[in-house]
Order: sequence, then C-alpha cells, then structure tokens
Amino acid sequence: MSSPRVLLGVAGGIAAYKSAELLRRLTESGHSVRVLPTAAALEFVGAATFEALSGQPVHTGVFADVPSVQHVRLGHEAELVVVAPATADLLARATHGRADDLLTASLLTARCPVLFAPAMHTEMWEHPATVANVEVLRSRGVVVMDPASGRLTGKDTGPGRLPEPSEIADLARLLLERRDALPRDLEGKRVVVSAGGTREALDPVRYLGNRSSGRQGYALATVAAQRGAQVTLVAGHTADLHDPAAVDVVRVGSALELRDAMHAAAKGADAIVMAAAVADFRPVSLVGHKIKKGAGDPDPLVLTTNPDILVELVGARPAGQVVVGFAAETGDATGDALHHGRAKLARKGCDLLVVNAVGDGKAFEVPDNGGWLLGADGSEKELAIGSKALLASHVWDAVAGRL
Ligand code: C5P
Repeated sequence: MSSPRVLLGVAGGIAAYKSAELLRRLTESGHSVRVLPTAAALEFVGAATFEALSGQPVHTGVFADVPSVQHVRLGHEAELVVVAPATADLLARATHGRADDLLTASLLTARCPVLFAPAMHTEMWEHPATVANVEVLRSRGVVVMDPASGRLTGKDTGPGRLPEPSEIADLARLLLERRDALPRDLEGKRVVVSAGGTREALDPVRYLGNRSSGRQGYALATVAAQRGAQVTLVAGHTADLHDPAAVDVVRVGSALELRDAMHAAAKGADAIVMAAAVADFRPVSLVGHKIKKGAGDPDPLVLTTNPDILVELVGARPAGQVVVGFAAETGDATGDALHHGRAKLARKGCDLLVVNAVGDGKAFEVPDNGGWLLGADGSEKELAIGSKALLASHVWDAVAGRL
C-alpha cells in the first residue's frame, strides 16, 4: 500500500519552526511528505532540516528540476496539502491565484483537500484584507483553521498563534479520512462539550477516578471550532492534551463541579455534547486530613450516587437545543452493545447518543473510535472505526442537521 502523499507548505513566519514538529508527526503516521517552503520560510528554518526529516528534496522556486515539471506534478499527485504556518501574505497570494513560487503553483494544480493553519499577529489576522481573503478561500472549500490565542512573537497576545502541531496533524488525518469533514456550518452557533474524567476526592491526597483520556471530547471541541462554532469545553481530568485552538476551556475536578460548569455554559447554547466520563458515585464525605491507616477514621469508601448531569441537562433544555450523550457499552447475556445503547437513549431522553463498544482496548486511551450514532427519531448510523475527529465530524453533521 502506498503512503498518502502530503504536501507541507511552510510560509515565512516565526512559527515556521513548529512545522518541523508537524512534519515529524506526519511522517511518523506513515505519510510521504514533500515540504514546500517559501523563500521567506527558509530564513527561519534551513532546507536541511526539512530534507532530513522528510527524506525528500526541498525546493522553493518553479525553476528547480524543470524536466519533471514539478510545479504541476506535485499538486496533481498530492492527496492533501497542508500549509503551516500560513502567513497573511501566503493567504493573500493563494486567494489571488498567484503562482510565483513552487508552493503557490502547487496550490493551483492540487485538486485534493487543502488545509491552512494561519499564524500571524492579531492585527494582521483581523485586518479586513485578511478577513476577506479567508472568506474567499473558505467559499472555495479550502479549510482555513481559526488560529489559537495566546503569546505571539513578542510580548503581545491575542488570536493569531499557530494551532498546536498535534491539532493540525489530527485535522490533516481527518481530511484524508473524509474530505468534506470541515464545512463552516456551525458559524454563529454556540456549543458546549464536556470531556475527560471526573475525580472524586476521598481526602486531600486521594481520589476515585477513571481511565478517560478526554481525547474524544477534545476532538469534538476542535472539530466544532473549526466548523465555525463558538465552543466552551468543560474539561475534567485528561491525558496531557493541548487546549484546542479557538476554544474556551473551563477546568473542573469533581462531578459536582462539572455539573455546575455545564449548567452555567448550557444557558443559551445551541448544542451540548456530554462526552465526559462522569463518576457515578462519590464519597459521602470529604475527609479534611489525610486518612490514616487504622486510626479509627470513618470508612472512606462509603459512597453516594452523583446526579446524572445529562438527564438534568435534557430536563432543563430550552426548545431547539440539541443534547448529545455518549455511552460506552459492552454486550452481556441480555443483549449486545447496540441493544443496551438503544435502551440508554430512551432512558436519558437526549436527541442523539453515540454508542461505543468498549472492552479489548477499544475506545479508552486510544486514538481511534467507532460505534453507532442513535437518534431519538429512530435513526441509526454505524460509525466505522476511524479517528476520534472523524467520529466528531459525524456527530456535528447530525447536530447541524437538527439545528
Ligand atoms: O449512564 P452512563 O454513565 O452510561 O451514561 C453516559 C452518558 O451520561 C455520558 O454522556 C455521560 O457524560 C453522562 N453522564 C452524566 N452524569 C453522570 C453519569 C453519566 O451526565 N452522573
């Protein structure tokens, strides 16, 4: 099987140094990557770095290796073009169909999905010229990510930071799995996603927790934000994940904290997705000091039931708000995972339920996921195993269709 061919365009901004990390991620996931830096990008990172990491030659101009007609061939052969960082200048040249270097010429000949990850100063990102260019590019089906907010080159902060290489790599994989996964159909919508596991404290040092990595919830937040939604991500304990670009992250610890944060964020939201693994039980009381062995402390494992936040959110929802739940199920003597999922959908009362078959290392702490998407209207869609971003894209399709 041949490895997917990716063109990695690198434009001339300080964030060019992060493209080396992105390149590494792409090659490690089995892609054959040809790097197309602009001349300005090579002021920041040497061609040798890109050549060594990609194992392929690096050229900037259209007059290199003329006999192989590179400026046409590379675009033709590509299955995905990723430009990271995409500067204001590169976006402007792409918008106007310029072909003054190998990267822009390849953008004109490529017929595959194209993903731009912008990075520039906030003033440049918000300038009407850039805003108009991004709009034109998006109207042509090009995916232009919303940048992250945070520290820029100097002391300034604001939107314009390059999204993390891991996030760009996840969206690159998503576009290879499904080229129409990132339409801007959630523009003007506000959505809330919960992610990760809750931790129920026993005393100042110990807690009851679970194995949720938060990856599925983070993928839901990433995909919603890049489809144009205003996203609040309520995050419990997760693996070491970066905040997704253009997402407001609210951190919580226990189920009760997650409950408060969800009810606050849910007000006025168009859609809510409960992907968090909420502890079903918590200790009846939190002991104020570290519980000592054999010291006559009360039994720390006397538990009480946590509220079902999803059921509460369904009960409190205003007309038109779409609520989505998740269910990790295994089969048993009474039925398979899908059977239990259908029953759970009815019990929870939500509009959509994602059912993951778990066990045997499936779904938890792994990058891939699959299952079924069940609708309260009786619809059932099988979700083939793929990236968590792919599953997220199917969830947002269903949500967008109901909004
Ligand atoms: O009942 P079960 O835990 O399998 O349901 C899973 C779904 O319910 C998930 O969407 C989860 O986020 C949500 N949930 C909740 N509050 C709880 C337990 C689960 O909102 N206490």
